[in-house]
Amino acid sequence: MAQVFDEWESTMKLPTPRGPLTAFLFEELASPPRRFDPPSFSPQGPALYDEDLQLALFACYELHYRGFEEVDDEWEWNPSLLALRQDLEHLFEEGLRRTVPRPSPPGGTPMRRALADLVATTDGGPGLAAFLARKADLEQFREFVAHRSIYHLKEADPHTWAIPRLHGAAKAALVEIQTDEYGGGRLDRMHSELFRATMRALDLDDSYGAHLERVPAITLAIGNTMSLFGLHRRHRGALLGHLAAFEMTSSLPNLTYARGLRRLGGDAVACRFYDEHVQADAVHEQIAAHDMCGGFADAEPGLAQDVLYGAACGLTLDRLFAEHLMDRWRLGVTSLRQADLMAAGR
Ligand SMILES: [Fe+2]
Ligand SMILES: [Fe+2]
Repeated sequence: MAQVFDEWESTMKLPTPRGPLTAFLFEELASPPRRFDPPSFSPQGPALYDEDLQLALFACYELHYRGFEEVDDEWEWNPSLLALRQDLEHLFEEGLRRTVPRPSPPGGTPMRRALADLVATTDGGPGLAAFLARKADLEQFREFVAHRSIYHLKEADPHTWAIPRLHGAAKAALVEIQTDEYGGGRLDRMHSELFRATMRALDLDDSYGAHLERVPAITLAIGNTMSLFGLHRRHRGALLGHLAAFEMTSSLPNLTYARGLRRLGGDAVACRFYDEHVQADAVHEQIAAHDMCGGFADAEPGLAQDVLYGAACGLTLDRLFAEHLMDRWRLGVTSLRQADLMAAGR
């Protein structure tokens, strides 16, 4: 059966630099691959909020996804680029450690219970989902979707990197979840495609990376955390915990987002992404916490605490993201980057 989907941009262009680090990096990336000495760099403030650092990391990681239109594919494994990325990752990991307390090891508590306890005791944030359901105007909902597009247009990809690193029950469980995320092999059911339909319904550009210029560091940090955990085998426990936390806190908020979008006039096509996640993630939650993380902790007990740390990172970053949006909206200003700052390269 023919499926009707518009041709769309599969790669993005290098974005505008946000400081000396990205100015240097993007100039290199636009040139033929070569050796370079990594520039010295230290964040001006907290790493999670540093625009220059988060954009640089995002660009380094994007080379492992779809890359950039004007960047040679050879850059992906360029030793100088990887050395720079490692320096930036150390700063980022330090920033995460400062922000996210490491949960205690689960001890004798089953992993599923330990994850549920962590979710229940973590600050849920300022009520972004409830605000979107009841009060947000259309422009605020569109902003929310623009932020989320950074991840949802590559939905599931970072966690897929764990598959070859696992075996047994944890591997089978992850594959079961990812199969759904990729629509069981049906293009029109892939979650990233459902999200594109939501974007089009909101009159937003649904091209890959179309909103990169507009999203701030904290939005990039959410994606960078997944890429960091996904690209390093040593972080496989954290990656699984991250996915579990995501699935365990998804069903109800998605129901709430759908309510908000319907209140603002969204039809069934616009809301399908959210509707789909209400059902799917109620199931994924069980598979992720019990079969995947439980199976993993049984197989690799030394990494059980990492599973909880990864979950804590996901939950905390989501709260910081919600706080950013709600703080900006309370002030009556956009949560996206403002044109004057973008023009000034900040
Ligand atoms: Fe999904
Ligand atoms: Fe899911």
